[in-house]
Amino acid sequence: MTRAGADAVEDGLAAHENKSQLRFLTCGSVDDGKSTLIGRLLYDTKLLFEDQLATLSRDSRQHGAPGGDLDFALLVDGLAAEREQGITIDVAYRFFATGKRKFIVADTPGHEQYTRNMATGASNSDLAVILVDARLGLLTQTRRHSFIVSLLGIRHVVLAVNKIDLVDFSQARFDAIVAEYRAFADGLAFETLVAIPLSARDGDNVLTRSPRTLWYDGPTLVEHLETVNVADTALARPFRMPVQWVNRPNLDFRGFSGTVASGEIRTGDAIVVAGSGRTSTVKAIVTKDGLLPRAGAGDAVTLTLADEVDISRGDVLAAADAWPDVSDQFAAHLIWMHDEPLFPGRPYLIKIGTRTVNTSITEIKHKVDVNSFQKLAAKTLGLNEVGVVNLATQQPVAFDPFAEVPQTGAFIVIDRISNLTLGAGMIDFGLRRATNVHRQALDVSKASRAALKQQKPVILWFTGLSGAGKSTVANLVEAKLHALARHTYMLDGDNVRHGLNKNLGFTEVDRVENIRRVAETAKLFLEAGLIVLTSFISPFRAERRMARELVEDGEFIEIHVDVPLAVAEQRDPKGLYKRARQGLIKNFTGIDSPYEAPEAPELRLDAGTRSPEDMAEEVVAYLTTRGYLG
Ligand code: ADX
Repeated sequence: MTRAGADAVEDGLAAHENKSQLRFLTCGSVDDGKSTLIGRLLYDTKLLFEDQLATLSRDSRQHGAPGGDLDFALLVDGLAAEREQGITIDVAYRFFATGKRKFIVADTPGHEQYTRNMATGASNSDLAVILVDARLGLLTQTRRHSFIVSLLGIRHVVLAVNKIDLVDFSQARFDAIVAEYRAFADGLAFETLVAIPLSARDGDNVLTRSPRTLWYDGPTLVEHLETVNVADTALARPFRMPVQWVNRPNLDFRGFSGTVASGEIRTGDAIVVAGSGRTSTVKAIVTKDGLLPRAGAGDAVTLTLADEVDISRGDVLAAADAWPDVSDQFAAHLIWMHDEPLFPGRPYLIKIGTRTVNTSITEIKHKVDVNSFQKLAAKTLGLNEVGVVNLATQQPVAFDPFAEVPQTGAFIVIDRISNLTLGAGMIDFGLRRATNVHRQALDVSKASRAALKQQKPVILWFTGLSGAGKSTVANLVEAKLHALARHTYMLDGDNVRHGLNKNLGFTEVDRVENIRRVAETAKLFLEAGLIVLTSFISPFRAERRMARELVEDGEFIEIHVDVPLAVAEQRDPKGLYKRARQGLIKNFTGIDSPYEAPEAPELRLDAGTRSPEDMAEEVVAYLTTRGYLG
């Protein structure tokens, strides 16, 4: 945008400063006319800038918009293209205003795979405009978007039945779509649901009432957006403030900074630190505008307290008479937003408020068919799927059920390595079972067990393709250690799959669970004071990393028995590669299931060229030089 353009926006915003504001989001499939509608709103409310208009009419001519009209979709898509040349912003926010209100539209790409963007846009919107093509009626996408909108706490919806001109302004068609949608939306707890027949392209019922739909006596889209009451209910909820950082510029000042998530706070109010349960009262509310007697939801503040209380980043400050819950296990609704499916048992991060914790999904209770709300059995959640899950966090976190305080009941799931957002969740309730189970203190420790055996316990984690020779090498290593009078135990893939893991197959989900159980078991043997050898393909980095992080530094030695796939396949000791190639075994590692080679193993053994005996010697030599064998 040009400098003058930027100034015009500034002026535009300034002129509307005192009007109330509505944030909304538009959702629809690719061709439902979302871009056209947004373009139309911007154009009709006269906030288009001259240079953009000039480009628009030029582009429309090139693209041959019907009847030489301006093609509004080009405007919005053009802005999107501009945006994509720079850093990728998933959601574009657009501004327009009328005499009564100012509006911020979250515009999100409509493709199926962009649910993640949609959820981002929805997370701070008051209302959703759900677009339907009158010719096509409700699509799975319509239902999915409505479902997500509801899950993310949007209580106001407009069903925009677009392209009504293309069904001859048929009231019957409109009524049928609306009836079907109302029946569907019954379960979604929307406070307002207004259906409007419109043509975004021609402008019918967008700003002005259409003479072509005389049977319709409801408001136009803009009339409705101007008047719908979405009074923020966050203020009425109990006070919550996740601490963003502890502000300690000098020894005399200690403040807790963050944004008030819900409710209000006044000087003198009693607060509690969720988790520790320590209480105090607010001494001062410091803001960029100086000291304030009061602050409410959405305000960025620094609180100072009357007492010295131990508080750190990620803690939640709450009203002393309305404590949030604290738990490390939850039941939640989860929307998965990534191509790679959800793996129960895999370690992820969740971010709730300002706290980020290690988490795993311990169980998928069911997934939800967004068309029928039917509960379906599921072992995983794929892209865009919604499920009801249990999850466990490594440390307890403070939260509220989403239905009570959405601001402290929503979380996102983050990949530990790429930092990508993988999903979004809403806590239904905390599970008490974990809080009722306490760890038993034991008198005999890992160290004392190890001392009796006169050895240093360690896990030797062998990983590699099937047929690489993991078990052969591990077996030789164990024999050598045994001969050296060391106490060992060997966990071998084929053997464990006949017992502890006999209910698991070779899907990615099952492999994740296989390794999770093996890692936990290896840890138990480690605590018994043993040198533990594990021999599993263990194809995924995430699970090997989890196994490593279960134990202390120096207690995990990753050994990559590295062989080219072609060599393993040529050896084919169990004839499995042959059968996999014939399609008789599915999900075979290296053939149609991935192997993620270790990036930094303690030992990499070149199993393509070396003998098992030689490699076993190297492992023992490694243990000796590193002092594991005393
Ligand atoms: S892992 O991937 O979950 O770590 P694990 O090491 O337990 O696998 O089991 C691998 C062994 O199971 C292989 O050595 C092979 O003998 C056998 N097997 C049977 N089907 C498969 C398959 N689809 N993929 C890999 N190994 C298989």
